[in-house]
Parts: sequence; structure tokens; C-alpha cells
Amino acid sequence: MKVGVLGSGDVGKRLAAGFAGRGHDVVVGTRSPGNAELGKWASGVPRKLRVGSFADAAQHGELLVLAVHGENALAALDAAGRGHFANKVVIDVMNPLTFANGVVGLFVGTTDSLSEQVQQALPSARVVKAFNTVGSPQMVDPHAKGPARLELLIAGNDAAAKQQVTEIVKSFGWAGTLDAGDLAAARWLEAMVPLWVRLGGTLHTWDHIWSVTRD
Ligand SMILES: NC(=O)c1ccc[n+]([C@@H]2O[C@H](COP(=O)([O-])OP(=O)(O)OC[C@H]3O[C@@H](n4cnc5c(N)ncnc54)[C@H](OP(=O)(O)O)[C@@H]3O)[C@@H](O)[C@H]2O)c1
Repeated sequence: MKVGVLGSGDVGKRLAAGFAGRGHDVVVGTRSPGNAELGKWASGVPRKLRVGSFADAAQHGELLVLAVHGENALAALDAAGRGHFANKVVIDVMNPLTFANGVVGLFVGTTDSLSEQVQQALPSARVVKAFNTVGSPQMVDPHAKGPARLELLIAGNDAAAKQQVTEIVKSFGWAGTLDAGDLAAARWLEAMVPLWVRLGGTLHTWDHIWSVTRD
């Protein structure tokens, strides 16, 4: 599959390498395709992966991943060209985080979410919220001590898109996904992240993963 990853931070790199490592053909989009450090990283990924502009990545991908800074999400969509998202499955990993006065919070929440804003900006895209509740190192090949069954929380309006994302998630080493419902559930998946950040501080780890146990 051709995959476009918009974002060249820790998340973009981790997921892009995950896709490339599973045989997908990946373009990572950035504002600085000529960045030497990024080029060095890309040449170290042993499979098919290259770096381009946001528009290159969006045009290339049959499936797209949004992994830019939350505040710049809509600017990145414009830079990529909104037409390139038409009818495609779009995995939204972004969080609307703020750190005003050193306190982690959200710049949108409870009655709206960043994912819903993205969906509104890309009406024909099939947006699936996924990977936003987990730290980048654990997005691919997740691991935890104990008997926890590692399932990734997702949300979205399109059942077939969520099924496709579930297959990808399984190929990345997860037991499966936990479907929180339609894209309005992204309000709560995003709201889990300030709590995840706070728990990271109290637990002194950034490897913690949400797990939902049941009979
Ligand atoms: N880090 C984590 O563990 C983690 C976990 C779950 C979810 N997330 C979410 O995933 C997203 C990516 O996180 P990250 O830590 O990898 O990186 P980040 O530092 O939040 O964002 C880096 C990306 O944002 C882009 N960007 C910055 N300013 C921009 C602007 N003005 N216009 C367009 N694009 C801009 C950068 O583009 P350039 O390549 O051009 O510099 C870069 O690709 C965020 O929304 C974050 O909340 C992060």
C-alpha cells in the first residue's frame, strides 16, 4: 500500500518506519524536505521510504497519517492540498495539547475535538482517530509487563475505515483495537492524553499504555 505520513517528528518517524518495515511504500511529508538530519534518518530505514513535502506525501498515499503539531493541523492540510485527501482513509494521531503556564491542557475539548475539526475540513475523507493515546515508542511493537491485552483505542464514523486501521494496528503488534464509537469519541480519546502526561510524571515512565480489562 502507498502511505503518506504528514509529520516528521517522533510520531511521524515511528509510524513511517512501522509501515515501511511491513512492506508499504511510504513518503514522509515535512516543510523541509531537504533537511539533512531527516534525510540521514530516512536512508537508515531499510525499506521503501522517502522524504517529501506535505503535498508529496498527501498525493502519494492511498492511506494518509496526520502527525503534525495539533495547533498546525489545519495549516498542514492546506499545505498538503485538501483535494489529496478525498475519499481516503486518514489516520489522525494528533492531539490538541497546550502547556499554558506549565499545565497540560487541550485547546479544544468536551463539545468538539481536533479530529472532528479535521473531518469538517476534509468532508469526504474517512478519518479514524488512532495512536493518539500512546507514546510514540509504543505505537509499533508495543510491550508491557503483566497479562494486559494491548488494544489500541480508536474512533471514527466509517466502519470499513476502522476495520482497515484495525488490520494495520494488528500488523504493528497490537492484539487489536477497542472501538470507542463515532468520531465524537475523539473528544474523550484526546482528553485521555493530558491525564496520560500527568501519569507519566507521577509514574516516572513514558512507556505506559491504557488497557481496558473486562470479564
Ligand atoms: N510524541 C508522542 O509520543 C505523541 C503521542 C501521541 C500523539 N502525538 C501527537 O502526534 C502529533 C505529532 O507529534 P510529534 O511529537 O511527532 O511532533 P510535534 O513536535 O508535535 O510536531 C512535529 C510536526 O509538526 C509539524 N509542524 C510544526 N509547525 C508547523 C506549522 N506551522 N505548519 C505545519 N506543520 C508544522 C512539523 O513539521 P516539519 O516537519 O516541517 O518541521 C513536524 O512534522 C502531535 O499532534 C502530538 O500531539 C504525539
